[in-house]
Amino acid sequence: MTHQPQSLLVTGGAGFIGANFVHYWIQRYPAHRVTVLDALTYAGNIENLASLREQPHFRFVHGDIRDFDTIAQALRDAAVDTIVHFAAESHVDRSIHGPDAFIDANVLGTHTLLKAAKAVWLDRDNRAVHRFHHVSTDEVYGTLGPEDPPFEETTPYAPNSPYAASKAASDHLVRAYHHTYGLNTTTSNCSNNYGPYHFPEKLIPLLIVNMLAGKPLPVYGDGQQVRDWLHVEDHCRGIDRVIRHGNAGETYNIGGNNERPNMEIVTLLCGLMDDVFRHTPALGERFPQAPPTEGRSCAELITHVTDRPGHDRRYAINAQKAMQALGYRPEITFEDGLQQTLAWYLENETWWRRVMAGSYRDWVDLHYRDQTSPEATR
Ligand code: NAD
Ligand code: TYD
Repeated sequence: MTHQPQSLLVTGGAGFIGANFVHYWIQRYPAHRVTVLDALTYAGNIENLASLREQPHFRFVHGDIRDFDTIAQALRDAAVDTIVHFAAESHVDRSIHGPDAFIDANVLGTHTLLKAAKAVWLDRDNRAVHRFHHVSTDEVYGTLGPEDPPFEETTPYAPNSPYAASKAASDHLVRAYHHTYGLNTTTSNCSNNYGPYHFPEKLIPLLIVNMLAGKPLPVYGDGQQVRDWLHVEDHCRGIDRVIRHGNAGETYNIGGNNERPNMEIVTLLCGLMDDVFRHTPALGERFPQAPPTEGRSCAELITHVTDRPGHDRRYAINAQKAMQALGYRPEITFEDGLQQTLAWYLENETWWRRVMAGSYRDWVDLHYRDQTSPEATR
């Protein structure tokens, strides 16, 4: 049966994928109400949603998914029928150095969100029409050997990093709330995303900003680890399909059928950057430290560094279920997507400089004082 959302609560909507999803959704379904709930951690940036401030059906709530009352209030205020849950700590390297934050946000946070959804939708309102969509990762399945078939929805969970383990735990909680309480849930497990608003601690945006600054491009170990890369807009398309057409209690894998070793990504991006500088001489004035400014290649910045502990060797997704059952199809080729992404970072230098400096909080105070204070949301 098709689910027809009218009012969404998007957790983590100020982060990379969440912000792309909110833009995607409002563009396609302008009549729907969209409430973003986000704690604005280092990775959350309300500037990503700036262009939506005047949208009549858009609202921002500065809140934490571990705060039951704030969530319940947001669900009631907007008569929310659909939760799309992105909020999480998301960086594997950070989870290795400080796992506690991942357990707090990803496990306790998801559980609090589930409890609030159950309390408002099932216990209070007996609302038959609702959907809790949980956004997860392929990393819960662990690592693959070179000849192994890609992950399927039935692949046993074998998370290797604290990040992956915390996401696996949250997936299990979502499953349990469906099985035990009858909450109408769906889960999608997606491969590595790239695109606009990607925080420059993740591989692709990190490479771009380091090339522009003439800084080393750190390649962990031999750089032969394989990831299945998907443009964030294709991920949003997949989530859209799951929310509207997915069956309650089901999980769906979303991927790009686009496996690449890290070294290939680095080499490809270096070539693209060299080309852009060749065709746009003005970039040399903006980025004097970038090697192409002096006629050299960005490839000279490639630096092999110590490998990540427990580094998963290969991820690959089999997305046949979503393709056959939901009509999901990725539409953006990797070459086009990378080119667009590089162009976005060149056009949005102020954005990445500001998020890297953390100073966007001044901007938040200036523009969102009225909406971000917790009092204003009550
Ligand atoms: P991100 O780190 O860019 O954004 C996370 C957002 O969640 C931020 O806006 C942050 O402020 C918010 N947040 C964190 N803790 C919170 C809390 N306790 N309460 C409220 N908000 C909180 O992450 P992303 O890359 O956009 O990933 C979004 C989701 O997609 C995550 O659940 C992640 O596991 C999943 N995912 C990511 C990828 C990827 O390649 N980035 C791939 C598959 C799945
Ligand atoms: P990342 O973007 O952190 O995503 P994930 O760990 O969730 O897959 O990393 C993608 C791949 O790039 C992963 O194999 C680790 C590698 N990597 C580097 O080689 N150097 C870097 O500086 C970073 C951030 C990642």
